[in-house]
Amino acid sequence: MFWKKSKLIILYSTVDGHTKHICEYISKKLNNKKKIQISSIEESKKFDLNKYDEIIIGASVRYGYHRKNVYSLIETNKEILEQKKTTFFSLNLTARKEEKNTPETNPYVFKFLKKVNWEPTIKDVFAGRLDYPKLDFLNKLAILFIMIITNGPKDTSKTYELTDWKRVDALINKL
Ligand SMILES: Cc1cc2nc3c(=O)[nH]c(=O)nc-3n(C[C@H](O)[C@H](O)[C@H](O)COP(=O)(O)O)c2cc1C
Repeated sequence: MFWKKSKLIILYSTVDGHTKHICEYISKKLNNKKKIQISSIEESKKFDLNKYDEIIIGASVRYGYHRKNVYSLIETNKEILEQKKTTFFSLNLTARKEEKNTPETNPYVFKFLKKVNWEPTIKDVFAGRLDYPKLDFLNKLAILFIMIITNGPKDTSKTYELTDWKRVDALINKL
């Protein structure tokens, strides 16, 4: 007798690559258990979401918001999403703070899910990665300013990976 693997699609919205990196990590860890397709949200039109049993959407925050294509993906596919096992996770620097690192306490997550009026089966939020040397002058200045007022990492010659990978593993265990 053969055990039919569950079909999972992982869709990510990233600017600097860290959300993609986390999605690839999830995919690698689940590779033996599920039949996995992984894609950016930009490329997701190529795939019929109806064909999958499970859908994961990972998205990072930039200047207060997840990108527009995350909103439209969810709004366009709401009916399908409501019939599947779904996971949404957000990546942002605010989640580095203990009091803002759950879906209920992270302002970007609860505002986003309220706006798109969607309740994923599993939701999560992780602290992201801050790669100062990679940022252009204006973005570096803006982020530095935010880090000064929110007491975050300020050495602009450094890259800070603030993701708690144990939390990512805990999410994987629920999938
Ligand atoms: C230009 C810029 C703007 C950002 N804006 C926010 C923000 O408004 N709130 C926040 O918590 N994190 C913010 N971040 C942090 C990102 O969400 C974090 O770096 C994340 O890891 C980026 O993921 P990505 O590499 O998948 O794009 C910002 C980062 C950059 C570079």
